[in-house]
Formats: sequence, C-alpha cells, structure tokens
Amino acid sequence: MTEIRTPRLLLRRWLEDDLVPLSEIHADPAVMRRIGDGATRSGDRTAHDIEAWEEEWDEEGFGMFAVELLGSGELAGAVGLSVAGAPAEIAGQVAISWRLGRVFWGQGYASEAAHATLEFALQDRGLDRVVAVRRLADTASANVLDKLGMQAEGTAQDPVHGHDLAVYGIDLTQYQD
Ligand SMILES: CC(C)(COP(=O)(O)OP(=O)(O)OC[C@H]1O[C@@H](n2cnc3c(N)ncnc32)[C@H](O)[C@@H]1OP(=O)(O)O)[C@@H](O)C(=O)NCCC(=O)NCCS
Repeated sequence: MTEIRTPRLLLRRWLEDDLVPLSEIHADPAVMRRIGDGATRSGDRTAHDIEAWEEEWDEEGFGMFAVELLGSGELAGAVGLSVAGAPAEIAGQVAISWRLGRVFWGQGYASEAAHATLEFALQDRGLDRVVAVRRLADTASANVLDKLGMQAEGTAQDPVHGHDLAVYGIDLTQYQD
C-alpha cells in the first residue's frame, strides 16, 4: 500500500471512514466553487469520487491521496494525481490537484502534500512530467504552484464550464526536491 509521511501529514489511499469527512468538505461551497461545475457534492457523489480515485490507483499506480493530519488523524482533504481528460492542452497527461477543508487552509498543508506528491510522481513513479491547470481567479492555487516550482506554460479554456485556465507543467529535468 502506498503511503507517504511528511513532517505533518500522512498521504495514503482511501478508507471507508473517509467518506463522512470528505462529504463534509464537499458540502462546503467555499471549497467547491472552483472545482468542476462549482456545485457542492452529496455523500453519494463523494462516494463515487472516492471509488473513481481508488480505481485510478489500481489501474495507473497513482491517484488522489487522502491527506491525513499526523497529529490528530483528521482527514484534511485530497491531493494527488490523475490523468487529465481536458482541456485538450493537457489531455492524457498526469495532472496534480488539491482540495482541503476550509479549516485546513493557510497552514501550508496543501503545499506540503503537493511537494510530496510531485516527488512521488517524478522520482518514485518515474513519470517524466506533471501538469496542472488552475482557474485564472484561483490565486491560492497559483501560490501553491509557484512554491512547487511549476512553470506557467500558457492558457486554455475549460471546454465544459467555459472558465479561463492557466496551464502549468514541470519536467523531471526541471525538478529539484
Ligand atoms: C487551493 C488550496 C488547496 C490552497 O491551500 P492553502 O492552505 O492556501 O495553501 P498552502 O498549503 O500553500 O498554505 C498557504 C499558507 O499557509 C501559511 N502557513 C502557515 N503555517 C505554515 C507552515 N507551517 N508551513 C508553511 N506554510 C504555512 C503560509 O503563509 C502559506 O502562505 P504563503 O505561501 O503565502 O506564505 C485551498 O485554498 C483549497 O483547498 N481551496 C478549495 C479547493 C480548490 O479550489 N482547489 C483548487 C482547484 S482544483
């Protein structure tokens, strides 16, 4: 089983007990406003998300991590990797993304988990490139991307929801842990 420990976090695969806390995170409009269609998600939809992430882990050997606080054991959110379906500029490439419960923002947890995920992708899994997209309005993600050393490579448009996106990438050759 894939687990990563950082100074403050445990990144691991998903457990049944994660459904309730992740559903609470997905029920918060402030968390969800820049994800997908911007709507909050039900418990059933959250269960489906966890199932899809676990399937990706089984099929690809990577996926979204459950991010747990080492100190308290609380689920802080989801950070990890997925094969992008869209926009066309990154389709088929491995993308990093993040979402934490609101009470866990502003403590460096997203960046800590994302650094560990990037190292996992490029060094452990042997991927030679990781990409990301953020909505232009998403300055919190821009800050995380800058701290990760990911390079802004251009713009794109979300083909489903129409949002303007900034596209980022990092190659193994550019990566310094
Ligand atoms: C995007 C998101 C994950 C960013 O989380 P975040 O908590 O702002 O990001 P970070 O982990 O980088 O932490 C930010 C701040 O924590 C502060 N911080 C406090 N204690 C810290 C510590 N011990 N170590 C590091 N930083 C710390 C820092 O000041 C840092 O800000 P700075 O880089 O300007 O100095 C979060 O806003 C979120 O989940 N949003 C909703 C979901 C979403 O929109 N996801 C993206 C679209 S898919």
